[in-house]
Amino acid sequence: MSLVKHSARTVRKPCRSCGSSELYWAHDTDRAYHKHCDRCNVTGGFVLIEKDGSRHDCRITSGEPEDSMPDMDPDGPTEDDEKEVSPVAAPVSPDVQQALGMLVGALTPQVDRAEIEAMVKEAVANVVFPTRTVVERANGARIELSGATHHKLGDVITSLMAGEHVLMVGPAGTGKSTIAEQAAEALGLKSYSISLSPQTPASQVLGYMQATGDYVPSLFREAYEHGGVFHFDEMDNAHPSVLAVVNAALANGHMAFPDQMVKRHPDFRAVASANTYGRGATRSYVGRQAIDAATLDRFSVETIEVDETLENELCHSTGLETDLVERVLFFVRRLRANAEAHSMPVVISPRASVGMCRLLRAGRSWESAVEARVRRGMGDTEWNKLSG
Ligand SMILES: Nc1ncnc2c1ncn2[C@@H]1O[C@H](COP(=O)(O)OP(=O)(O)OP(=O)(O)O)[C@@H](O)[C@H]1O
Ligand SMILES: [Mg+2]
Repeated sequence: MSLVKHSARTVRKPCRSCGSSELYWAHDTDRAYHKHCDRCNVTGGFVLIEKDGSRHDCRITSGEPEDSMPDMDPDGPTEDDEKEVSPVAAPVSPDVQQALGMLVGALTPQVDRAEIEAMVKEAVANVVFPTRTVVERANGARIELSGATHHKLGDVITSLMAGEHVLMVGPAGTGKSTIAEQAAEALGLKSYSISLSPQTPASQVLGYMQATGDYVPSLFREAYEHGGVFHFDEMDNAHPSVLAVVNAALANGHMAFPDQMVKRHPDFRAVASANTYGRGATRSYVGRQAIDAATLDRFSVETIEVDETLENELCHSTGLETDLVERVLFFVRRLRANAEAHSMPVVISPRASVGMCRLLRAGRSWESAVEARVRRGMGDTEWNKLSG
């Protein structure tokens, strides 16, 4: 038997006997019924062959006479079997072609990868992710603080838990007083605070005796005797005589109050905040007092700078529309950088950015909000330097 493969394509009509369509047409040049195929230039009857080139024999193996095999079709492949299958291109009008062109153009990215990355980074940088601050105490108790927190809060809490008193130093409005309150909440202790000034008398710390002989306790006495976090706000603004009292209270495990000696409670902690490191006035904080070394020595010092993530959160929480909040933040941060670069004695705190957002939200114009919260009557020369 000599078989010549007629077509590289499998048959379209399956074998009439077994239904297989994984077959090919071939010429059997030995077959009685001869027919010349111009394409293959051979003469022979059409038969079906397998992939491997062997004769398809579904009927041979079942014992039927070879001449009755269904694949021995004298006519070979039908027209259908021979037709190449190709996609039919429907005629397309010029209008449709133009519309398709525009659609493809619109779907093709018009920006490159670097541009897309820059856009995503910018968008993500201004996203305000909701934050949760959970404090786990040594005894396993967990306290979740509500609201936003400064990223230094954790350090302050850890120091207080370790038995340290903490002095927070940083520019105005960076969140020092808020950290003191949140730290007390995290430790499960009551929070007390006094704001010190050169006029604050020692009696405001120690309490005093009335003419009747009754003792009037102070908040400090309450915290010292019963435990709590006591915040000496603006410590670098205090009169030295008051700082001497603070020093004495922290130096010893007991303290002479006007009515009696009092033992310091083990859960008493002091936090203090200041705009300077206690070495006296600076260009921005002109009225500040130097704090004596012995008092400073009682405290661990934490520097509290502007936390820009917290500032983002506070500005967005004003409810001002996002685009304007971003404009305010960009503007305020540029002023801050300029003030630093030119060593200008101005403070552009988060109070300025949050305040501007509030004013704009209330309907004030950009110019009036800038004047009220940032410029504040500054002369042209200074303002040009700051805002340039
Ligand atoms: N974590 C916070 N959550 C909500 N508001 C905050 C937070 N931190 C600061 N603020 C707000 O920012 C402003 C300044 O905060 P705070 O008074 O704590 O700063 P400060 O560093 O103590 O300022 P100063 O040096 O002027 O005493 C306040 O209006 C306060 O309510
Ligand atoms: Mg404060």
